[in-house]
Amino acid sequence: MTQLINFAHRGASAVCPENTMAAFAKGLELGATGIETDVQMTKDGRLVLIHDESVTRTTGAKGLVQDYTYEELSKLDAGSWFGEDFHGERIPLLEELLELTKSHGTIINIELKNSIIQYPEMEKRVIEAVSHYKMSEQIVISSFNHYSLVECKNIDPEIRTGLLYGEGLYKPWEYAKLAKADALHADHRAVLPEWVTEAKQSGVVYHPWTVNTEERMKALIKAEVAGIITDYPDVLSRLLQTKGA
Ligand code: G3P
Ligand code: MG
Repeated sequence: MTQLINFAHRGASAVCPENTMAAFAKGLELGATGIETDVQMTKDGRLVLIHDESVTRTTGAKGLVQDYTYEELSKLDAGSWFGEDFHGERIPLLEELLELTKSHGTIINIELKNSIIQYPEMEKRVIEAVSHYKMSEQIVISSFNHYSLVECKNIDPEIRTGLLYGEGLYKPWEYAKLAKADALHADHRAVLPEWVTEAKQSGVVYHPWTVNTEERMKALIKAEVAGIITDYPDVLSRLLQTKGA
């Protein structure tokens, strides 16, 4: 059986400020074999790793990411809100994460945050960055904007995509086919073991989010999902070692 991918959600976000280089490096240190991150775009078209459309929650500054140039954004402190030890952590570029993880073979789940703001040509820019680093095989692009996932496949039919959704889809593996997606990134509470099996028979895998209890991790490992997105990659790593998966 293929090894289940242990995706550190926004990096090791339980112990480090989310979506910072500190969080990504810590994720690898704690046993993550995958990293989930969120991408937004600056005024000058740079791809930056930050969850919210606004910079306020994680930097204390005001305004939207899209209204900052990268140079302006790079001066903001994205660490202190989490703890003084992280003072000076910046909002990273997607390229910085790719550089960090290329040699580790880490799977990068790049979540395009383009449901609320439709960033022009975001798909093309992300795929270009990934090709520049020759990392296409290490990537899964996910989004709640399923038109955007289809656009990714139109640009590069080989790139893997993951359909993000909450709950309530009927036979989501069939819908995944329609949207040309390879994986279902479902709220973990909406995942039943028999669905995992049925999806797999259709060639579609599950990467549920955000799984933070041992009980749910164990159930999903047993159901043979292909990956789990968690704030606690250390806990998942220990469970996978115990299981010998
Ligand atoms: O990719 C799973 C998860 O990250 C989706 O929700 O809000 O944490 O980006 P959110
Ligand atoms: Mg995300």
